[in-house]
Amino acid sequence: MTILVTGGAGYIGSHTLRLLRSQHRDVVVLDSLVRGSEKNLLGATLEVADICDSAAVESICRKHNVDSVIHFAAYKSAGESMTHPHLYWRNNVEGTVGLIEGMLAANVQQIVFSSSAAVYGNPDQLPITESAAIKPENVYAETKAMMERIISWYGITHALRWVSLRYFNAAGASSDGVLGENWDITTNLIPLVMKAALGASGPLQVLGNDYPTPDGTGVRDYIHVEDLADAHAKAVDYLNDGKPNLTVNLGTGVGTSVLQILEATKNAAGKPVPHEFAPRRLGDPAIVYADATLAQEKLGWAATRSYEDIINSAFAWHQSQS
Ligand code: NAD
Ligand code: WQD
Repeated sequence: MTILVTGGAGYIGSHTLRLLRSQHRDVVVLDSLVRGSEKNLLGATLEVADICDSAAVESICRKHNVDSVIHFAAYKSAGESMTHPHLYWRNNVEGTVGLIEGMLAANVQQIVFSSSAAVYGNPDQLPITESAAIKPENVYAETKAMMERIISWYGITHALRWVSLRYFNAAGASSDGVLGENWDITTNLIPLVMKAALGASGPLQVLGNDYPTPDGTGVRDYIHVEDLADAHAKAVDYLNDGKPNLTVNLGTGVGTSVLQILEATKNAAGKPVPHEFAPRRLGDPAIVYADATLAQEKLGWAATRSYEDIINSAFAWHQSQS
């Protein structure tokens, strides 16, 4: 039984791949390397291909005797999705159709999908449960909502079996410092904080300090990338056990503010992080955090790492790279 990991050369995919290999599972990566790096594979088998190419997917699945897919491959920048939406419709939405058609042609019937808390948009209620309204606020988020629905329809039309995992704010690096998140191509808070802390950029812009939150800055549910990896392994086991299709949140259930992130980074670095206050970013919700109880009930998964673990691992990794 081989697991095909699409997007395994990227940030979350590479951490998951590493965990699966440490569990002695057979894995093969399908990645175009358009936004990933072969060095993240740590020697795992790579097939360079595009998920849009169903024939390539089919032949890779047959060649490696694949029986499950973990589908990370996508573009993920909300900002870019609003300036270049066609990239997102083609790569994320058409790509997912291409992937599934190739899988089905090779009789591969199980998929674990990287969805996102972005599908909830600005939430009406906290914590966010899986039954909350789907209200995407950018093209990227809409593609994730569409991909969830496409996968679910393939469940009806072709008996595809699936788990959709809605990650909250993925962050951190591996605890042994081997893998981390490339800060060149991200607009996410934690890599930007690391850049500022290590003097690789100007001060961090704290985007809004007038939110209705305890310290005025935005609150998010930061989830360690190694906790996410663990959830994917459990989701594959869940499908292998023949259990029903499932959509679950992956978060800690704990909200953390931008200033708390800066404080934890100050502790890791031994000095304050240069920062300045700036206006809110358009469309940013004040507070987002998960109700993560369903993942515990259905997958036996819960986050084990705190936001301080995220910061300590990220700081150590970025420091080792600079
Ligand atoms: P990433 O950009 O680091 O990795 C994506 C990988 O997919 C890259 O290696 C890239 O080369 C590959 N890829 C992209 N398009 C491809 C295609 N058409 N064919 C083959 N390979 C292709 O992203 P990441 O942070 O590891 O995110 C992985 C998944 O998790 C994405 O689907 C993303 O939307 C989702 N997600 C990420 C976050 C986050 O905070 N990073 C949060 C929620 C959901
Ligand atoms: C976190 C907090 C900002 C940058 C994004 C995507 C979402 C998902 C996760 C993929 C907010 C504040 C940020 C900065 C700041 N990705 N901030 N200064 O916006 O919660 O979610 O990543 O699915 O789709 O939209 O994450 O890391 O950008 O921001 O003060 O320079 O940090 O306002 O409160 P976000 P983020």
